[in-house]
Amino acid sequence: MNKKIYIAGHRGMVGSSIWRALEAKGYANLIGRTSAELDLKNQNAVVDFFQTEKPEVVIDAAARVGGIMANSSFPYQFLMENMQIQNNLIDSAFHSDVQKFIFLGSSCIYPKFAPQPLKEEYLLTAPLEPTNEWYAIAKITGVKACESIRKQYGKDYISLMPTNLYGPYDNFDLNTSHVLPAMIRKFHEAKEKNEAIGVSEPVELWGSGNPMREFLYVEDLADAVVFALENEFHDNLYNVGTGVDLTIRELAQLIQRTVGHTGEILWDVDKPDGTPRKLMDVSKMENAGWKAKVGLEEGIAKTYQWFLEHQGTFKEVKI
Ligand SMILES: NC(=O)c1ccc[n+]([C@@H]2O[C@H](COP(=O)([O-])OP(=O)(O)OC[C@H]3O[C@@H](n4cnc5c(N)ncnc54)[C@H](OP(=O)(O)O)[C@@H]3O)[C@@H](O)[C@H]2O)c1
Repeated sequence: MNKKIYIAGHRGMVGSSIWRALEAKGYANLIGRTSAELDLKNQNAVVDFFQTEKPEVVIDAAARVGGIMANSSFPYQFLMENMQIQNNLIDSAFHSDVQKFIFLGSSCIYPKFAPQPLKEEYLLTAPLEPTNEWYAIAKITGVKACESIRKQYGKDYISLMPTNLYGPYDNFDLNTSHVLPAMIRKFHEAKEKNEAIGVSEPVELWGSGNPMREFLYVEDLADAVVFALENEFHDNLYNVGTGVDLTIRELAQLIQRTVGHTGEILWDVDKPDGTPRKLMDVSKMENAGWKAKVGLEEGIAKTYQWFLEHQGTFKEVKI
């Protein structure tokens, strides 16, 4: 419980959830730095930080993240900043003899048309989804960096690949957010607009509604990270998800019901759909002893409650 654990990105949705989960379990020596205090793109600053603080465990939840629009508008930043952040963290951890490193990637590392559900072994077997290949390629280099350290030096460096996440402290900025928080905000605002006359405004959503996606409540991911911290892993790459998916249309209807929106849903089919289906095969993680606990309906209800309690305090991400 006194191990010095550095959570990179500890103020983000994922990092803050991991921090709360570790604190709740009694871990008493957690450290974090904001990007203003330590810019992880700055190699010298990161090396200095590791030499001074000497963390024993590193959890990498720092990254530039965003949805389809942010990825396709800023390909260079999504590729380069993510590589800089993870390279500096992994290499500094390696050189300061950190024995356990948990690297967080994303399911977008897998090929666009890979068989479903996605198994870890499908990595690098076919082309990626072009809309977020910049981000995916950066994450793949992180997975490979951890794998090479495990292979060459036998250290417990592991990569967890979460499916789409949602929950408290998500990004609700419509310019840069992911699909689920964007829908919560759109349905809520459309409901509020015409509340006086009892009819919600229509909501316009991107794409056809047909793609299938899987969603994991962020506190479940934090639980998986704690599990990974407390157990030795014998391989590098593990998917983290629920193993269950639904169409974007079904997701919209579920959020619409949760929010209490009564208007129409309009689908803007000129906007890209992205990968047709993205479901994780989670059997490797289940065989290691971990399974998701929070169902989608319960997770969305908790997230909407959090949204209602924190309106006006959302981070509005500026790129
Ligand atoms: N959100 C998802 O649906 C999802 C799905 C799968 C995987 N993941 C993975 O989970 C990880 C975290 O995602 P998230 O959703 O928690 O993102 P987030 O809320 O945007 O948080 C990202 C964190 O990274 C930090 N950061 C970014 N650039 C930095 C820099 N140059 N120097 C120092 N810190 C920097 C930010 O620090 P400040 O707040 O101090 O600026 C922030 O705390 C990422 O690796 C992502 O790939 C996320």
